[in-house]
Amino acid sequence: VKIYVPLDSGAIALGADDVASTVSGEIAKRGLDAKLVRNGSRGMYWLEPMIEVETANGRFAYGPVTPDDVASLFDAGFMTGASHDLALGATEEIPFLKKQTRLTFARCGIIDPLSVEDYRAYEGFAGLDKALKMKPAEIVKQVTDSGLRGRGGAGFPTGVKWNTVLGAKADQKYIVCNADEGDSGTFADRMIMEGEPFVLIEGMIIAGIATGATKGYLYTRSEYPDAIRIMEEAVKVARAAGILGKNILGSEYDFDMEVRTGAGAYVCGEETSLLNSLEGKRGIVRAKPPLPALEGFLGRPTVVNNVLSLASVPIIMDKGAEFYRDFGMGHSRGTIPIQLAGNIRHGGLFETAFGLTLGELVDDIGGGTATGRPVRAVQVGGPLGAYFPRDLFDTPFDYEEFAKRDGLIGHAGIVVFDDTVDLMKQARFAMEFCAIESCGKCTPCRIGAVRGVETVDKIAKGEEPEAQIELLHDLCDTMKFGSLCALGGFTPYPVLSALTHFPEDFKPRALDIA
Ligand code: NAI
Ligand code: SF4
Repeated sequence: VKIYVPLDSGAIALGADDVASTVSGEIAKRGLDAKLVRNGSRGMYWLEPMIEVETANGRFAYGPVTPDDVASLFDAGFMTGASHDLALGATEEIPFLKKQTRLTFARCGIIDPLSVEDYRAYEGFAGLDKALKMKPAEIVKQVTDSGLRGRGGAGFPTGVKWNTVLGAKADQKYIVCNADEGDSGTFADRMIMEGEPFVLIEGMIIAGIATGATKGYLYTRSEYPDAIRIMEEAVKVARAAGILGKNILGSEYDFDMEVRTGAGAYVCGEETSLLNSLEGKRGIVRAKPPLPALEGFLGRPTVVNNVLSLASVPIIMDKGAEFYRDFGMGHSRGTIPIQLAGNIRHGGLFETAFGLTLGELVDDIGGGTATGRPVRAVQVGGPLGAYFPRDLFDTPFDYEEFAKRDGLIGHAGIVVFDDTVDLMKQARFAMEFCAIESCGKCTPCRIGAVRGVETVDKIAKGEEPEAQIELLHDLCDTMKFGSLCALGGFTPYPVLSALTHFPEDFKPRALDIA
Protein backbone atom coordinates (compact mmCIF):
# COMPACT_ATOMS: atom_id res chain seq x y z
CA VAL A 1 0.00 0.00 0.00
CA LYS A 2 1.25 3.46 -0.85
CA ILE A 3 0.62 6.32 1.59
CA TYR A 4 1.14 9.80 0.16
CA VAL A 5 2.20 12.82 2.23
CA PRO A 6 3.04 15.96 0.24
CA LEU A 7 6.54 17.41 0.09
CA ASP A 8 5.17 20.68 -1.30
CA SER A 9 6.49 23.62 0.71
CA GLY A 10 2.94 24.91 1.33
CA ALA A 11 2.09 21.57 2.93
CA ILE A 12 5.42 21.51 4.79
CA ALA A 13 4.65 24.94 6.21
CA LEU A 14 1.48 23.40 7.62
CA GLY A 15 3.33 20.46 9.18
CA ALA A 16 3.61 17.82 6.42
CA ASP A 17 7.17 16.80 7.36
CA ASP A 18 6.15 15.97 10.93
CA VAL A 19 3.13 14.07 9.64
CA ALA A 20 5.37 12.13 7.22
CA SER A 21 7.81 11.09 9.93
CA THR A 22 4.95 10.06 12.21
CA VAL A 23 3.48 7.96 9.39
CA SER A 24 6.87 6.28 8.83
CA GLY A 25 7.14 5.59 12.55
CA GLU A 26 3.69 3.99 12.66
CA ILE A 27 4.43 1.83 9.60
CA ALA A 28 7.60 0.53 11.29
CA LYS A 29 5.99 0.12 14.72
CA ARG A 30 3.04 -1.82 13.32
CA GLY A 31 5.21 -3.84 10.89
CA LEU A 32 2.97 -2.89 7.96
CA ASP A 33 3.59 -3.59 4.31
CA ALA A 34 3.21 0.06 3.31
CA LYS A 35 5.37 2.61 1.52
CA LEU A 36 5.47 6.31 2.25
CA VAL A 37 5.60 8.42 -0.92
CA ARG A 38 6.19 12.17 -0.80
CA ASN A 39 4.03 13.66 -3.57
CA GLY A 40 3.32 17.19 -4.73
CA SER A 41 0.28 19.01 -3.44
CA ARG A 42 -3.15 18.60 -5.00
CA GLY A 43 -3.48 22.33 -4.40
CA MET A 44 -6.22 22.34 -1.76
CA TYR A 45 -4.28 24.21 0.86
CA TRP A 46 -7.06 24.43 3.42
CA LEU A 47 -6.88 20.63 3.60
CA GLU A 48 -3.09 20.40 3.95
CA PRO A 49 -1.36 18.40 5.19
CA MET A 50 -3.58 16.02 3.24
CA ILE A 51 -2.67 12.32 3.33
CA GLU A 52 -3.76 9.94 0.60
CA VAL A 53 -3.82 6.16 0.45
CA GLU A 54 -3.95 4.02 -2.63
CA THR A 55 -6.67 1.40 -2.24
CA ALA A 56 -8.24 -1.16 -4.55
CA ASN A 57 -10.97 1.45 -5.17
CA GLY A 58 -8.61 4.31 -5.99
CA ARG A 59 -7.08 7.00 -3.86
CA PHE A 60 -8.70 8.21 -0.65
CA ALA A 61 -7.85 11.43 1.13
CA TYR A 62 -7.71 12.54 4.76
CA GLY A 63 -7.01 16.01 6.01
CA PRO A 64 -5.94 18.31 7.40
CA VAL A 65 -3.86 15.84 9.40
CA THR A 66 -1.68 16.60 12.43
CA PRO A 67 0.93 14.16 13.81
CA ASP A 68 -1.49 13.47 16.68
CA ASP A 69 -4.11 12.18 14.23
CA VAL A 70 -1.85 9.64 12.56
CA ALA A 71 -2.18 6.72 15.01
CA SER A 72 -5.97 7.01 14.99
CA LEU A 73 -5.98 6.93 11.18
CA PHE A 74 -4.11 3.61 11.26
CA ASP A 75 -6.40 2.33 14.04
CA ALA A 76 -9.46 3.18 11.94
CA GLY A 77 -8.03 1.24 8.97
CA PHE A 78 -7.45 4.22 6.69
CA MET A 79 -5.15 2.08 4.55
CA THR A 80 -8.29 0.56 3.03
CA GLY A 81 -10.06 3.91 2.76
CA ALA A 82 -12.05 3.44 5.99
CA SER A 83 -14.03 6.29 7.45
CA HIS A 84 -12.57 8.67 10.01
CA ASP A 85 -13.35 12.18 11.21
CA LEU A 86 -10.74 13.48 8.76
CA ALA A 87 -11.92 11.34 5.81
CA LEU A 88 -12.53 13.34 2.65
CA GLY A 89 -13.58 10.37 0.49
CA ALA A 90 -12.18 9.48 -2.92
CA THR A 91 -9.66 12.20 -3.78
CA GLU A 92 -10.85 12.70 -7.34
CA GLU A 93 -14.42 13.21 -6.09
CA ILE A 94 -13.57 16.19 -3.86
CA PRO A 95 -15.64 18.93 -5.56
CA PHE A 96 -12.77 21.45 -5.73
CA LEU A 97 -10.71 18.90 -7.71
CA LYS A 98 -13.58 17.38 -9.65
CA LYS A 99 -14.60 20.72 -11.15
CA GLN A 100 -11.12 21.32 -12.60
CA THR A 101 -9.64 20.60 -16.01
CA ARG A 102 -6.07 19.71 -15.24
CA LEU A 103 -3.95 19.76 -18.35
CA THR A 104 -0.80 21.55 -17.14
CA PHE A 105 -1.15 20.10 -13.64
CA ALA A 106 -2.25 16.67 -14.89
CA ARG A 107 0.05 14.69 -12.59
CA CYS A 108 0.79 17.17 -9.82
CA GLY A 109 0.01 15.57 -6.46
CA ILE A 110 -0.52 12.19 -8.09
CA ILE A 111 3.02 11.01 -8.75
CA ASP A 112 6.32 10.86 -6.93
CA PRO A 113 7.89 14.03 -8.40
CA LEU A 114 11.33 12.47 -8.83
CA SER A 115 10.28 9.16 -10.35
CA VAL A 116 10.71 8.94 -14.12
CA GLU A 117 8.79 5.64 -14.04
CA ASP A 118 5.82 7.30 -12.31
CA TYR A 119 5.92 10.20 -14.75
CA ARG A 120 5.98 7.85 -17.75
CA ALA A 121 3.19 5.73 -16.25
CA TYR A 122 0.97 8.83 -16.44
CA GLU A 123 1.82 9.60 -20.10
CA GLY A 124 4.85 11.69 -19.22
CA PHE A 125 7.32 12.28 -22.08
CA ALA A 126 4.64 11.34 -24.63
CA GLY A 127 4.82 14.91 -25.96
CA LEU A 128 8.61 14.76 -26.18
CA ASP A 129 8.48 11.38 -27.92
CA LYS A 130 6.28 12.96 -30.60
CA ALA A 131 8.37 16.14 -30.84
CA LEU A 132 11.52 14.09 -31.44
CA LYS A 133 9.94 12.75 -34.63
CA MET A 134 8.96 16.21 -35.92
CA LYS A 135 10.77 19.06 -37.66
CA PRO A 136 11.37 22.20 -35.55
CA ALA A 137 9.01 24.29 -37.69
CA GLU A 138 6.25 21.69 -37.25
CA ILE A 139 6.60 21.86 -33.46
CA VAL A 140 6.48 25.67 -33.55
CA LYS A 141 3.38 25.50 -35.73
CA GLN A 142 1.64 23.12 -33.35
CA VAL A 143 2.34 25.41 -30.38
CA THR A 144 1.18 28.43 -32.40
CA ASP A 145 -2.01 26.65 -33.51
CA SER A 146 -2.81 25.65 -29.94
CA GLY A 147 -3.29 29.33 -29.09
CA LEU A 148 -1.00 29.06 -26.04
CA ARG A 149 -0.12 32.52 -24.69
CA GLY A 150 2.59 33.45 -22.20
CA ARG A 151 1.35 32.48 -18.76
CA GLY A 152 3.83 34.76 -16.96
CA GLY A 153 1.38 37.59 -17.42
CA ALA A 154 1.86 39.33 -20.74
CA GLY A 155 -0.06 36.72 -22.74
CA PHE A 156 2.18 36.97 -25.81
CA PRO A 157 1.66 34.01 -28.20
CA THR A 158 4.26 31.40 -27.30
CA GLY A 159 4.50 29.99 -30.84
CA VAL A 160 5.23 33.44 -32.31
CA LYS A 161 8.05 33.93 -29.78
CA TRP A 162 9.50 30.52 -30.62
CA ASN A 163 9.27 31.30 -34.32
CA THR A 164 11.39 34.43 -33.87
CA VAL A 165 14.08 32.37 -32.14
CA LEU A 166 13.82 29.58 -34.70
CA GLY A 167 14.38 32.09 -37.51
CA ALA A 168 17.37 33.78 -35.83
CA LYS A 169 20.82 32.72 -37.01
CA ALA A 170 23.35 32.14 -34.23
CA ASP A 171 26.06 29.74 -33.08
CA GLN A 172 24.21 29.19 -29.81
CA LYS A 173 20.62 29.71 -28.67
CA TYR A 174 19.13 29.38 -25.21
CA ILE A 175 15.93 28.47 -23.42
CA VAL A 176 15.43 30.39 -20.20
CA CYS A 177 12.60 29.40 -17.91
CA ASN A 178 11.36 32.32 -15.86
CA ALA A 179 10.57 30.75 -12.50
CA ASP A 180 11.07 33.99 -10.58
CA GLU A 181 7.51 33.84 -9.34
CA GLY A 182 7.08 37.08 -7.44
CA ASP A 183 3.43 38.07 -7.71
CA SER A 184 1.49 38.21 -4.47
CA GLY A 185 -0.84 35.26 -4.07
CA THR A 186 0.86 33.14 -6.72
CA PHE A 187 2.35 29.71 -6.25
CA ALA A 188 1.59 27.75 -9.43
CA ASP A 189 5.19 27.80 -10.71
CA ARG A 190 6.41 26.57 -7.34
CA MET A 191 3.83 23.78 -7.27
CA ILE A 192 4.96 22.54 -10.69
CA MET A 193 8.64 22.65 -9.73
CA GLU A 194 7.98 20.78 -6.50
CA GLY A 195 5.23 18.44 -7.64
CA GLU A 196 5.90 17.72 -11.30
CA PRO A 197 9.39 18.86 -12.31
CA PHE A 198 9.65 16.56 -15.32
CA VAL A 199 6.79 18.29 -17.13
CA LEU A 200 8.81 21.50 -17.00
CA ILE A 201 12.01 19.78 -18.09
CA GLU A 202 10.04 18.13 -20.91
CA GLY A 203 8.64 21.51 -21.99
CA MET A 204 12.11 23.06 -21.98
CA ILE A 205 13.56 20.24 -24.08
CA ILE A 206 10.72 20.57 -26.61
CA ALA A 207 11.33 24.35 -26.75
CA GLY A 208 15.01 23.60 -27.39
CA ILE A 209 14.30 21.16 -30.21
CA ALA A 210 11.77 23.58 -31.73
CA THR A 211 14.10 26.59 -31.81
CA GLY A 212 17.55 25.04 -32.14
CA ALA A 213 18.61 25.81 -28.57
CA THR A 214 20.79 23.24 -26.85
CA LYS A 215 21.16 24.85 -23.46
CA GLY A 216 18.57 25.81 -20.90
CA TYR A 217 18.51 27.71 -17.64
CA LEU A 218 15.84 27.64 -15.02
CA TYR A 219 15.96 30.93 -13.12
CA THR A 220 14.20 30.84 -9.80
CA ARG A 221 14.36 32.69 -6.50
CA SER A 222 16.18 31.96 -3.28
CA GLU A 223 12.85 32.06 -1.40
CA TYR A 224 12.00 28.72 -3.03
CA PRO A 225 14.54 26.34 -1.41
CA ASP A 226 12.37 23.22 -1.81
CA ALA A 227 11.67 23.94 -5.46
CA ILE A 228 15.40 24.52 -6.09
CA ARG A 229 16.35 21.24 -4.40
CA ILE A 230 13.72 19.22 -6.26
CA MET A 231 14.49 20.80 -9.64
CA GLU A 232 18.23 20.20 -9.20
CA GLU A 233 17.57 16.60 -8.29
CA ALA A 234 15.15 16.18 -11.21
CA VAL A 235 17.77 17.51 -13.64
CA LYS A 236 20.26 14.92 -12.32
CA VAL A 237 17.69 12.12 -12.59
CA ALA A 238 16.75 13.19 -16.13
CA ARG A 239 20.42 13.29 -17.14
CA ALA A 240 21.02 9.81 -15.73
CA ALA A 241 17.97 8.54 -17.65
CA GLY A 242 19.30 9.96 -20.94
CA ILE A 243 16.53 12.55 -21.10
CA LEU A 244 18.95 15.47 -20.80
CA GLY A 245 22.41 15.69 -22.33
CA LYS A 246 23.73 14.48 -25.65
CA ASN A 247 21.45 12.59 -28.04
CA ILE A 248 18.42 12.80 -25.81
CA LEU A 249 16.51 9.52 -25.78
CA GLY A 250 18.77 8.24 -28.55
CA SER A 251 17.83 11.05 -30.94
CA GLU A 252 20.03 13.46 -32.89
CA TYR A 253 19.13 16.28 -30.46
CA ASP A 254 21.24 17.58 -27.57
CA PHE A 255 19.80 19.59 -24.73
CA ASP A 256 21.01 20.18 -21.19
CA MET A 257 20.00 22.59 -18.47
CA GLU A 258 20.99 24.14 -15.17
CA VAL A 259 19.13 25.64 -12.24
CA ARG A 260 20.13 29.18 -11.26
CA THR A 261 18.98 31.10 -8.21
CA GLY A 262 18.39 34.84 -7.97
CA ALA A 263 18.51 36.83 -4.77
CA GLY A 264 14.80 37.59 -4.81
CA ALA A 265 14.36 41.02 -6.42
CA TYR A 266 10.85 41.37 -7.83
CA VAL A 267 12.14 43.13 -10.94
CA CYS A 268 14.27 40.09 -11.83
CA GLY A 269 11.00 38.50 -12.98
CA GLU A 270 11.09 41.02 -15.82
CA GLU A 271 12.79 39.13 -18.61
CA THR A 272 15.64 41.51 -19.44
CA SER A 273 16.66 42.11 -15.84
CA LEU A 274 16.41 38.36 -15.32
CA LEU A 275 18.87 37.90 -18.19
CA ASN A 276 21.24 40.45 -16.65
CA SER A 277 21.04 38.63 -13.33
CA LEU A 278 21.63 35.30 -15.07
CA GLU A 279 24.75 36.80 -16.66
CA GLY A 280 26.00 37.73 -13.20
CA LYS A 281 25.18 41.41 -13.54
CA ARG A 282 22.91 43.64 -11.49
CA GLY A 283 19.25 42.97 -12.18
CA ILE A 284 18.57 46.16 -14.11
CA VAL A 285 16.06 46.28 -16.93
CA ARG A 286 17.41 46.48 -20.50
CA ALA A 287 15.65 48.59 -23.11
CA LYS A 288 13.74 46.62 -25.77
CA PRO A 289 14.47 46.31 -28.67
CA PRO A 290 16.49 44.25 -29.08
CA LEU A 291 14.06 41.55 -28.05
CA PRO A 292 15.52 38.68 -26.01
CA ALA A 293 14.27 36.42 -28.80
CA LEU A 294 16.98 37.97 -30.98
CA GLU A 295 19.58 39.18 -28.46
CA GLY A 296 18.96 37.58 -25.10
CA PHE A 297 21.27 35.62 -22.80
CA LEU A 298 24.88 36.57 -23.61
CA GLY A 299 23.52 38.42 -26.63
CA ARG A 300 22.23 35.20 -28.25
CA PRO A 301 18.66 34.39 -29.38
CA THR A 302 16.81 33.27 -26.29
CA VAL A 303 13.34 31.97 -25.54
CA VAL A 304 12.29 33.38 -22.16
CA ASN A 305 9.11 31.60 -21.07
CA ASN A 306 7.30 31.29 -17.78
CA VAL A 307 7.11 27.89 -16.00
CA LEU A 308 3.42 27.46 -16.83
CA SER A 309 3.90 28.25 -20.53
CA LEU A 310 6.64 25.61 -20.84
CA ALA A 311 4.78 23.10 -18.67
CA SER A 312 1.74 23.39 -20.95
CA VAL A 313 3.72 22.43 -24.05
CA PRO A 314 4.03 18.64 -23.43
CA ILE A 315 0.26 18.10 -23.44
CA ILE A 316 -0.08 20.22 -26.58
CA MET A 317 2.52 18.06 -28.32
CA ASP A 318 0.91 14.88 -27.03
CA LYS A 319 -2.78 15.58 -27.62
CA GLY A 320 -2.50 18.09 -30.47
CA ALA A 321 -3.12 21.79 -31.00
CA GLU A 322 -6.84 21.35 -31.55
CA PHE A 323 -7.35 19.46 -28.30
CA TYR A 324 -5.81 22.33 -26.33
CA ARG A 325 -7.41 25.12 -28.37
CA ASP A 326 -10.87 23.64 -27.82
CA PHE A 327 -10.74 24.81 -24.20
CA GLY A 328 -11.21 28.47 -23.35
CA MET A 329 -12.87 31.51 -24.91
CA GLY A 330 -12.03 34.27 -27.40
CA HIS A 331 -8.30 34.64 -27.81
CA SER A 332 -7.63 32.98 -24.45
CA ARG A 333 -7.29 29.33 -25.35
CA GLY A 334 -6.62 26.26 -23.23
CA THR A 335 -6.61 26.17 -19.47
CA ILE A 336 -5.26 28.56 -16.86
CA PRO A 337 -4.00 27.50 -13.43
CA ILE A 338 -5.70 30.05 -11.19
CA GLN A 339 -4.34 30.66 -7.73
CA LEU A 340 -6.92 31.57 -5.08
CA ALA A 341 -5.32 33.36 -2.17
CA GLY A 342 -5.65 36.04 0.47
CA ASN A 343 -8.71 36.07 2.69
CA ILE A 344 -10.45 33.10 1.06
CA ARG A 345 -12.07 30.01 2.54
CA HIS A 346 -10.85 27.51 -0.03
CA GLY A 347 -7.47 28.82 -1.10
CA GLY A 348 -5.50 26.81 -3.62
CA LEU A 349 -4.77 25.97 -7.20
CA PHE A 350 -7.74 25.71 -9.56
CA GLU A 351 -6.90 24.86 -13.18
CA THR A 352 -9.77 25.44 -15.55
CA ALA A 353 -10.54 26.52 -19.09
CA PHE A 354 -10.59 30.30 -19.53
CA GLY A 355 -14.05 31.80 -19.19
CA LEU A 356 -15.30 31.31 -15.62
CA THR A 357 -16.36 34.62 -14.11
CA LEU A 358 -14.51 36.23 -11.25
CA GLY A 359 -17.60 35.79 -9.08
CA GLU A 360 -17.78 32.05 -9.80
CA LEU A 361 -14.13 31.72 -8.87
CA VAL A 362 -14.26 33.73 -5.67
CA ASP A 363 -17.73 32.92 -4.33
CA ASP A 364 -18.50 29.45 -5.64
CA ILE A 365 -15.09 27.79 -5.99
CA GLY A 366 -13.28 29.74 -3.28
CA GLY A 367 -16.26 29.81 -0.91
CA GLY A 368 -15.98 33.52 -0.10
CA THR A 369 -13.75 34.88 2.62
CA ALA A 370 -12.03 32.87 5.35
CA THR A 371 -13.22 35.41 7.91
CA GLY A 372 -16.85 34.94 6.84
CA ARG A 373 -17.20 38.68 6.21
CA PRO A 374 -18.38 40.01 2.83
CA VAL A 375 -15.86 40.16 -0.04
CA ARG A 376 -15.19 43.82 -0.81
CA ALA A 377 -12.34 43.68 -3.33
CA VAL A 378 -10.13 41.25 -5.17
CA GLN A 379 -6.77 42.01 -6.69
CA VAL A 380 -6.09 39.97 -9.79
CA GLY A 381 -2.65 39.71 -11.38
CA GLY A 382 -0.26 40.36 -8.52
CA PRO A 383 0.80 43.61 -6.86
CA LEU A 384 0.53 45.40 -10.20
CA GLY A 385 -3.00 44.15 -10.86
CA ALA A 386 -6.22 46.11 -10.50
CA TYR A 387 -8.60 45.89 -7.53
CA PHE A 388 -12.02 44.77 -8.73
CA PRO A 389 -15.18 45.42 -6.69
CA ARG A 390 -18.13 43.01 -6.62
CA ASP A 391 -19.74 45.04 -9.44
CA LEU A 392 -17.13 43.58 -11.78
CA PHE A 393 -17.57 39.98 -10.64
CA ASP A 394 -19.26 39.13 -13.93
CA THR A 395 -15.90 39.58 -15.73
CA PRO A 396 -14.90 36.31 -17.41
CA PHE A 397 -11.37 35.11 -16.78
CA ASP A 398 -9.92 36.08 -20.15
CA TYR A 399 -7.00 38.34 -21.12
CA GLU A 400 -9.07 40.72 -23.24
CA GLU A 401 -12.12 40.87 -20.96
CA PHE A 402 -9.94 41.92 -18.04
CA ALA A 403 -8.10 44.48 -20.18
CA LYS A 404 -11.45 45.97 -21.26
CA ARG A 405 -12.15 46.72 -17.60
CA ASP A 406 -8.71 48.19 -16.96
CA GLY A 407 -7.46 45.05 -15.28
CA LEU A 408 -5.11 42.22 -16.09
CA ILE A 409 -5.04 38.55 -15.28
CA GLY A 410 -1.24 38.52 -15.05
CA HIS A 411 0.02 35.23 -13.64
CA ALA A 412 -3.55 34.40 -12.58
CA GLY A 413 -3.25 35.08 -8.87
CA ILE A 414 -6.45 36.23 -7.17
CA VAL A 415 -6.08 37.86 -3.75
CA VAL A 416 -9.34 38.31 -1.85
CA PHE A 417 -10.08 41.06 0.70
CA ASP A 418 -13.06 41.38 3.00
CA ASP A 419 -14.90 44.56 3.96
CA THR A 420 -12.21 45.61 6.42
CA VAL A 421 -9.82 46.44 3.56
CA ASP A 422 -8.70 50.04 3.22
CA LEU A 423 -8.16 50.79 -0.46
CA MET A 424 -6.30 54.04 0.17
CA LYS A 425 -3.81 52.04 2.20
CA GLN A 426 -3.59 49.48 -0.62
CA ALA A 427 -2.93 52.27 -3.15
CA ARG A 428 -0.16 53.58 -0.91
CA PHE A 429 1.21 50.05 -0.64
CA ALA A 430 1.35 49.75 -4.46
CA MET A 431 3.41 52.93 -4.71
CA GLU A 432 5.63 51.91 -1.82
CA PHE A 433 6.17 48.46 -3.33
CA CYS A 434 7.21 50.06 -6.62
CA ALA A 435 9.54 52.49 -4.84
CA ILE A 436 11.25 49.64 -2.98
CA GLU A 437 11.46 47.25 -5.94
CA SER A 438 12.27 49.79 -8.68
CA CYS A 439 15.53 49.03 -10.49
CA GLY A 440 16.08 52.77 -10.75
CA LYS A 441 16.74 52.91 -14.45
CA CYS A 442 13.96 55.28 -15.45
CA THR A 443 12.61 58.43 -13.80
CA PRO A 444 8.81 57.91 -13.86
CA CYS A 445 9.18 54.76 -11.78
CA ARG A 446 12.18 55.63 -9.59
CA ILE A 447 10.91 59.06 -8.58
CA GLY A 448 7.22 58.74 -9.42
CA ALA A 449 6.66 55.91 -6.96
CA VAL A 450 8.23 57.88 -4.10
CA ARG A 451 6.09 60.92 -4.98
CA GLY A 452 3.09 58.56 -5.13
CA VAL A 453 3.56 57.50 -1.50
CA GLU A 454 3.92 61.15 -0.45
CA THR A 455 0.78 62.13 -2.36
CA VAL A 456 -1.34 59.45 -0.66
CA ASP A 457 0.05 60.55 2.69
CA LYS A 458 -0.98 64.13 1.93
CA ILE A 459 -4.54 62.99 1.16
CA ALA A 460 -4.59 61.19 4.50
CA LYS A 461 -3.31 64.27 6.30
CA GLY A 462 -5.98 66.42 4.64
CA GLU A 463 -3.49 68.65 2.77
CA GLU A 464 -5.69 69.78 -0.15
CA PRO A 465 -6.96 66.23 -0.70
CA GLU A 466 -8.88 66.97 -3.89
CA ALA A 467 -5.83 68.52 -5.56
CA GLN A 468 -3.71 65.57 -4.40
CA ILE A 469 -6.17 63.08 -5.91
CA GLU A 470 -5.88 64.93 -9.23
CA LEU A 471 -2.11 64.85 -8.91
CA LEU A 472 -2.21 61.11 -8.20
CA HIS A 473 -4.12 60.60 -11.46
CA ASP A 474 -1.50 62.66 -13.34
CA LEU A 475 1.33 60.78 -11.71
CA CYS A 476 -0.24 57.45 -12.68
CA ASP A 477 -0.53 58.67 -16.27
CA THR A 478 3.15 59.57 -16.34
CA MET A 479 4.19 56.25 -14.84
CA LYS A 480 1.91 54.25 -17.12
CA PHE A 481 3.11 55.82 -20.35
CA GLY A 482 6.65 56.84 -19.42
CA SER A 483 8.08 53.79 -17.64
CA LEU A 484 10.46 51.43 -19.34
CA CYS A 485 9.01 48.20 -17.96
CA ALA A 486 5.86 46.77 -16.38
CA LEU A 487 6.93 47.51 -12.80
CA GLY A 488 6.59 51.27 -13.16
CA GLY A 489 4.13 50.97 -16.03
CA PHE A 490 1.63 48.76 -14.21
CA THR A 491 1.78 50.22 -10.68
CA PRO A 492 -0.98 52.63 -11.75
CA TYR A 493 -3.40 49.68 -12.14
CA PRO A 494 -3.90 49.06 -8.42
CA VAL A 495 -3.81 52.79 -7.66
CA LEU A 496 -6.26 53.91 -10.35
CA SER A 497 -8.62 50.98 -9.76
CA ALA A 498 -8.71 51.85 -6.05
CA LEU A 499 -9.45 55.49 -6.92
CA THR A 500 -12.10 54.57 -9.49
CA HIS A 501 -13.98 51.81 -7.68
CA PHE A 502 -13.44 52.80 -4.04
CA PRO A 503 -13.33 56.64 -4.05
CA GLU A 504 -14.98 56.72 -0.62
CA ASP A 505 -11.74 55.38 0.90
CA PHE A 506 -9.69 58.39 -0.23
CA LYS A 507 -10.54 60.65 2.68
CA PRO A 508 -8.41 62.48 5.24
CA ARG A 509 -7.87 60.24 8.27
CA ALA A 510 -5.15 58.48 10.23
CA LEU A 511 -3.62 55.74 8.07
CA ASP A 512 -2.75 52.74 10.16
CA ILE A 513 0.68 52.06 8.61
CA ALA A 514 3.04 49.72 10.43
P1 NAI B 1 5.76 42.46 -23.06
O1 NAI B 1 4.39 42.64 -23.59
O2 NAI B 1 6.78 43.51 -23.26
O3 NAI B 1 6.38 41.15 -23.72
C1 NAI B 1 5.81 39.92 -23.74
C2 NAI B 1 6.80 38.91 -24.26
O4 NAI B 1 6.75 38.83 -25.68
C3 NAI B 1 8.25 39.19 -23.94
O5 NAI B 1 8.88 37.97 -23.68
C4 NAI B 1 8.79 39.81 -25.23
O6 NAI B 1 10.17 39.67 -25.34
C5 NAI B 1 8.05 38.97 -26.21
N1 NAI B 1 7.90 39.52 -27.57
C6 NAI B 1 7.25 40.64 -27.96
N2 NAI B 1 7.28 40.77 -29.31
C7 NAI B 1 7.94 39.70 -29.78
C8 NAI B 1 8.27 39.22 -31.10
N3 NAI B 1 7.92 39.89 -32.18
N4 NAI B 1 8.96 38.08 -31.19
C9 NAI B 1 9.31 37.40 -30.09
N5 NAI B 1 9.02 37.77 -28.85
C10 NAI B 1 8.34 38.90 -28.69
O7 NAI B 1 5.57 42.12 -21.52
P2 NAI B 1 6.63 41.90 -20.35
O8 NAI B 1 7.19 43.20 -19.93
O9 NAI B 1 7.59 40.81 -20.69
O10 NAI B 1 5.71 41.33 -19.19
C11 NAI B 1 4.74 42.12 -18.55
C12 NAI B 1 3.80 41.21 -17.81
O11 NAI B 1 4.48 40.55 -16.78
C13 NAI B 1 2.65 41.93 -17.17
O12 NAI B 1 1.50 41.68 -17.93
C14 NAI B 1 2.52 41.31 -15.79
O13 NAI B 1 1.28 40.71 -15.65
C15 NAI B 1 3.57 40.24 -15.78
N6 NAI B 1 4.25 40.09 -14.50
C16 NAI B 1 4.39 38.83 -14.01
C17 NAI B 1 5.00 38.58 -12.81
C18 NAI B 1 5.13 37.17 -12.29
O14 NAI B 1 5.51 36.97 -11.12
N7 NAI B 1 4.86 36.16 -13.09
C19 NAI B 1 5.53 39.68 -12.02
C20 NAI B 1 5.37 40.97 -12.63
C21 NAI B 1 4.74 41.15 -13.83
FE1 SF4 C 1 13.45 49.99 -13.63
FE2 SF4 C 1 11.07 50.89 -12.79
FE3 SF4 C 1 12.04 51.77 -15.06
FE4 SF4 C 1 11.22 49.22 -14.84
S1 SF4 C 1 9.93 51.01 -14.73
S2 SF4 C 1 13.08 49.98 -15.84
S3 SF4 C 1 11.81 48.79 -12.71
S4 SF4 C 1 12.97 52.07 -13.03
